[in-house]
Amino acid sequence: MALPVEDSTFRNSMRLLASGVTIVATSFQGRRSGLTATAVCSLALSPARVLASINMQGHTYGLVSESRCMSVNLLAQDHQLLAERFAAKRAAEDEDRFVYGEWTTAMTGAPMLADALAALDCRVTEIIPLDTHAILIGVVEDISFGPHRPPLIHFEAGFTSVLARAETHS
Ligand SMILES: Cc1cc2nc3c(=O)[nH]c(=O)nc-3n(C[C@H](O)[C@H](O)[C@H](O)COP(=O)(O)O)c2cc1C
Repeated sequence: MALPVEDSTFRNSMRLLASGVTIVATSFQGRRSGLTATAVCSLALSPARVLASINMQGHTYGLVSESRCMSVNLLAQDHQLLAERFAAKRAAEDEDRFVYGEWTTAMTGAPMLADALAALDCRVTEIIPLDTHAILIGVVEDISFGPHRPPLIHFEAGFTSVLARAETHS
């Protein structure tokens, strides 16, 4: 069956969607895992809920589907290296990405990035599989705020910042 839109055309269009960058992290039976994710958004209020779309082939999905908890850590411009490390393919299954950054443990048990712009501690209430990815719905149980500074942005397959883009276009 012919697809209505080529995958490459779709990819090229989504590269133009500027996104805030997060690390979605979890912990299960003493094992921590997290990944860089932009497919995250605010879903609803009362109770506050977020949505994250996560690849089911990944290591983090395996753990979050067991732990049913996740933190959503909103990254600042100075977190670019952290974002790259949490996105890089792991050399080994037990490689510890958490040696980078300062991490604490949230009420749900999920790891929380101490200096994230904001870190949302969530209970995962629904997991909706769709082909390669699963949509995770998290009810937010706690939020902490780090120092306020410019966010990290992903745009046209690279990291940038709001400030840098404003300067380039002035
Ligand atoms: C800017 C950026 C955004 C990403 N967003 C997502 C995302 O929303 N969902 C996802 O499953 N993977 C996303 N990825 C890919 C994962 O970060 C990457 O595949 C990671 O190694 C997966 O780790 P895991 O095996 O622990 O799941 C993104 C990567 C980058 C660089």
